Amino acid sequence: MARKFHLGWFCNFTSGDWNGDFAPNEAPWDGKFYVEMAQAMERACFDYLMLEDTLMVSEAYQGTSEATLRYALQAPKHDPLPLAAMIGAATTRLGVVATMSTLAYPPFMLARLAATIDHICGGRFGWNIVTSGEDSAAQNFGMDELPPRETRYDMADEYVELVNQLFGSWAPDAVVMDRARGVYADHTKVRPINFVGKYFKCRGPLNTVASPQGRPVYVQAGGSPRGRAFAARTADSIIATANGTEGMKWYRDDVRTRAAAAGRDPDDIKVLFLIYPVIGATDEEAWAKYRRMVNAPDFIEAALAAIGTVTDIDFSRLDLDAELPRLTTNGEQGTLDKFAQWGSGKTLRQLASERYDGGLRLIGTPDAVAAQMGAAMEAVGGDGFLISTPFQRSSRRAVNDITEGLVPALQRRGLVRTRYETTTLRATLKEF
Ligand SMILES: Cc1cc2nc3c(=O)[nH]c(=O)nc-3n(C[C@H](O)[C@H](O)[C@H](O)COP(=O)(O)O)c2cc1C
Repeated sequence: MARKFHLGWFCNFTSGDWNGDFAPNEAPWDGKFYVEMAQAMERACFDYLMLEDTLMVSEAYQGTSEATLRYALQAPKHDPLPLAAMIGAATTRLGVVATMSTLAYPPFMLARLAATIDHICGGRFGWNIVTSGEDSAAQNFGMDELPPRETRYDMADEYVELVNQLFGSWAPDAVVMDRARGVYADHTKVRPINFVGKYFKCRGPLNTVASPQGRPVYVQAGGSPRGRAFAARTADSIIATANGTEGMKWYRDDVRTRAAAAGRDPDDIKVLFLIYPVIGATDEEAWAKYRRMVNAPDFIEAALAAIGTVTDIDFSRLDLDAELPRLTTNGEQGTLDKFAQWGSGKTLRQLASERYDGGLRLIGTPDAVAAQMGAAMEAVGGDGFLISTPFQRSSRRAVNDITEGLVPALQRRGLVRTRYETTTLRATLKEF
């Protein structure tokens, strides 16, 4: 009997696949398209839908926002939190994860928002903890530039400690609703935290009631050594990019070792690897679809501009037909490393064209891709996949390929769940 693995879906509140062959005519900005998508994920028994977020209109490519806006890369983007609330109210079992940056939200506001949405979702909310990776985002919050990665993670360590205290500032039984005595909440069970740290100061208590899950599920995507250490200490689920099964296994083993060293049970962390399956009724059809995408006239420029938005690197300055020189970034180093395939000798053009094959080349019929995913998980040891579409451009057709094609094939192989056994996201993640 094959061991089951977990599934997440990765998208953002953006324009969707607005000019694709199967694009709808309606704009997605009222959120209803994404709610429908979440309902499809729930029918397919996904663990969670994860709403990505960034906080800028990037000018990394050629020093202007032209490519960003022309290709709708990371912008325009709407706030994922109201959408998370809509999705939570329109589903009953699916986990709803939204991204909030420790650089942008005051901790009290974040804890309050997370507790509120965890109630709206009935205990299915997760927070994707990010520290932001762009100067242009930092400049929207009063900073001149992005603080160095080490400082961002120092701040995040303190931030998480603070919000954990806020989530604990209401005892689970603080609300008594004693009609006879006329008491709504027992004030002895609601405590200030009086937190004073190096970066943050907060009196507390939280002014919401305790969150159904105690605190939301924590999701994180550390790529650097410091980021992986943070994720291993903090996260219930890690989302990661890695090249091929070897890279995936190395990453998972690394965070599991770090988790054990920090006194945690490594099985309490579910590592989901980002993939972009391309599904067709035949292998030829899937490959034709993939080739059409990467051979489109704008694909290389859009891919380079996209990777530039989260690394603050202007790839237009580099020779497309030469090997990519070693680069570092104060932004998303892990994403850069995955893209660059260091040591492969590949040219920038080749790397850009392989941006969405994830090293696993999941291109084929539902059953063929399901078999590949099963074999990859076998080699890696667990825990699952985070499925997305290139440029996170969602369409009903792309979702359908996954929820009505790939997932049933995975289910027939006994690789993923066919029904939910529990109600909260934390329990769903711990089901196997
Ligand atoms: C699958 C995945 C999703 C991510 N989503 C976001 C996001 O929504 N917002 C964001 O600012 N960063 C996001 N990141 C970036 C990570 O938070 C992190 O900064 C990155 O992986 C680099 O790791 P490092 O911070 O340890 O260098 C994501 C990364 C990955 C791999």
